[in-house]
Amino acid sequence: MAKHSVKSIGILTGGGDCPGLNAVIRAVVRRALLLDYEVIGIKNGWQGLIKEMTEPLTLLSVSGILPRGGTILGTSRTNPLKSEEDKKKVLGNIRKLKLDYLIAIGGEDTLGVARRLALEEGVKVVGVPKTIDNDVEGTDQTFGFDTAVSIVTEAIDRLHTTAESHQRVMVVEVMGRHTGWIAVVSGLAGGADCILTPERPMTIQEICRILEKRHARGRLFSIVVVAEGFQLAGAEDLVTKDQSLDPFGHVHLGGIGEIIAQQIEKHTGFETRVTVLGHIQRGGSPTSFDRVLGTRYGVKAVELLHEGKWGTMVALRGNKITYIPLERAMRKLKHVDPELIRTAEMFYG
Ligand code: F6P
Repeated sequence: MAKHSVKSIGILTGGGDCPGLNAVIRAVVRRALLLDYEVIGIKNGWQGLIKEMTEPLTLLSVSGILPRGGTILGTSRTNPLKSEEDKKKVLGNIRKLKLDYLIAIGGEDTLGVARRLALEEGVKVVGVPKTIDNDVEGTDQTFGFDTAVSIVTEAIDRLHTTAESHQRVMVVEVMGRHTGWIAVVSGLAGGADCILTPERPMTIQEICRILEKRHARGRLFSIVVVAEGFQLAGAEDLVTKDQSLDPFGHVHLGGIGEIIAQQIEKHTGFETRVTVLGHIQRGGSPTSFDRVLGTRYGVKAVELLHEGKWGTMVALRGNKITYIPLERAMRKLKHVDPELIRTAEMFYG
């Protein structure tokens, strides 16, 4: 086939990184080459389309990246729709770089931009749902979540042994933004004694009652997992690191663990320590589950473009990879299934 007739797919990774991004990139390149497309890597999320920073992706570029965390393309939280000028640059560069199609890998922000570019500007884009937070509506699971849960579960296991030795309460603050998926699933897996999520505000008295009940039956140590977006019942504001907002208007959550730990110690007298897992939850090699999910998503994204089904997002439904229109994804945050929270609550105290 003559070079000029080869269609080109641009691929970018936006928002917070997570394990499994490279698995998707590799799968996109491998599947696209089999279908005779060329693939152009766009650097640092949407910023790469504003600043025209790209690199061709070949078999060699994606060789050996499957087990690597992070993203070989780089990422950023750039919002290209914040200014008309940046939006024009993005659209101009898509034309200039002769990108026939786009694959945008990201969470609600990156995919929100993809949705608007598809619906308002006719950009032929397919989204791939990524985030450790697992809060993207329209898919049963985002890749990256399983790895984060594994990391937190291991941390809880480790905290158990030191908590027991010292007869302490260990408060573990985890990420997840405004949903408690990481907290609930890792808390269940690690046998936490109390799990605090944005979905279930509780008073400090309720939390302390759970720990005192456990103490009364002779278990003199406890593990409390708290999601960064948890609010004590009645509290007016989320606990944030500072007053600043990111380009998509998000606050920087963090610090609730310390507050909960101080309050527990004050109300119960139990010695309490706090661990903030932070970005460790996003680092390192993806689990086999995330490698496979990312690979299946990448393959499907290319096939959707090939079949003319752009303006969509790949999705997991049960065990099957499928897709939904971007306008039906991310209309709201996907909150933790109440059944999971109910199950976790049976093991409190
Ligand atoms: O969305 C992923 C996430 O890790 C959230 O859980 C967390 O609140 C946020 O990103 C942290 O963002 P940053 O990496 O910009 O500090």
